[in-house]
Amino acid sequence: MASEVQADNAIRFYESRSYNYDDTWHVDFTQRFISYLPIQPGQHVLDLACGTGLLTFLESEAVGSSGKIIGVDVTPGMLNMAAHKKRQAGDKYENVSFLQGDISHLDRIEGLKGKTFDVITVASALVLFPDPKKVIEHWSGYLKPGGILAVDATHPRNLVAGMVFERTARRLNLPVPYNREWSQSESTLKNVVEDAGLEVEKVITCENQAGYGKRFHDVDTWDDHFVENVIVKDVTRTFATNEIRKQAQSIFKEEWERLSVDGKVEEVDAVFLAIARKSADGSRYISKLTMDDVVFTGGCRCSGVQYKCTAQPADITCCYCKACQQVSGSAFLPFVDVPKDSVEFTSKMTLKKLTLSSVATRFFCTGCGAPLSMEYHSIPETTSLVMSSVNLETFKGTIPKVKRHIFVEEKAPWTLLPDDGAPRLQRLDVSDEQCGLSANNISDATG
Ligand SMILES: C[S@@+](CC[C@H](N)C(=O)[O-])C[C@H]1O[C@@H](n2cnc3c(N)ncnc32)[C@H](O)[C@@H]1O
Repeated sequence: MASEVQADNAIRFYESRSYNYDDTWHVDFTQRFISYLPIQPGQHVLDLACGTGLLTFLESEAVGSSGKIIGVDVTPGMLNMAAHKKRQAGDKYENVSFLQGDISHLDRIEGLKGKTFDVITVASALVLFPDPKKVIEHWSGYLKPGGILAVDATHPRNLVAGMVFERTARRLNLPVPYNREWSQSESTLKNVVEDAGLEVEKVITCENQAGYGKRFHDVDTWDDHFVENVIVKDVTRTFATNEIRKQAQSIFKEEWERLSVDGKVEEVDAVFLAIARKSADGSRYISKLTMDDVVFTGGCRCSGVQYKCTAQPADITCCYCKACQQVSGSAFLPFVDVPKDSVEFTSKMTLKKLTLSSVATRFFCTGCGAPLSMEYHSIPETTSLVMSSVNLETFKGTIPKVKRHIFVEEKAPWTLLPDDGAPRLQRLDVSDEQCGLSANNISDATG
């Protein structure tokens, strides 16, 4: 999506919302947003996608009369509201000015020529841009050395019907007015900001952003969400014709159902907020963890869960216990052990924790049912990654070999063990207990 199209879509979307925008949860959220920022009196702040100035006016109070704030937005209605509030407040916000323009092209805004800022804020807007890294890189050109950028991105389950809308549009190759799919966790936001050249000081998960915390929708209510999002609220006319809407209906249902567990689709009212800093000499931050450090990547069949691993794994263990047979639907489950802190989940939208025994915790994908990993309680610093989740094409170094077969006493009588010379253990040294099915307790691991 070209940046001009993005800006036009934003105007179409926010122009109609501007008159009652200040009746929404954004009032509370901007107060929370500023509470995390180290803004000092006298500083110069640039508030991008400032909307009706909710955050801009709070920043004005924080910097005081010796500071300066510029708010920039592209939607005339939002800026009119901001200007109206400034006028109404008399000379209280004299240190604030508003500029109209597209924040993907700050260089085209006359009032910003030659200016740099101590702090740049972008609240509730990053996911409106098709390429988050590119816009952050662009914005950071307006930061002073040592300056701070504060930016938030949505939790993958935030406004969950919006996520289904996006996935449906993408499957139909339609332009989407926002891009949320990449924002999966605190670490995906951190990675994007660091890839754009700023060092992330912290990422905070702000829960209860809109005040409902968590809620669950019946999977059967997909139709209501389809009508509300694809028919009623589709201001940017992504699904423009009846023919497209007809095609979208079954895909929307399928994507909605993929997110359900036990007949419920979870919605989480949270966003991730990153506070990042430009280096003191103005140079670009180079992340310590680059793709060069990644030994392999992996994930599930439907890509709802993806990870990268920076450790060379030990050799493969094949487990024949009943639980491994049942969760894999196969004769045995092969896995490799790696240090827990070498695995970073870059997407864990459909990741669920499954506790079947007191010996180990398992992780699987609710989207496609694929088993992903296990954590043995006796070796808490280790994660066992299921081999079917490992993307062998990305593997650097030697692909591991089978080093042992465990729990062979539980193997199915029709299974023949390979003659590979690897030791065959009746059980497993780490515990006398079997990792068999002793409880049925599925709980959330999406954090
Ligand atoms: C959800 S509102 C957030 C407003 C404000 N930051 C707040 O937290 O209340 C998103 C804002 O982004 C603005 N916006 C979207 N794309 C833009 C662009 N390319 N340039 C400038 N503003 C943009 C919209 O006009 C809208 O005011």
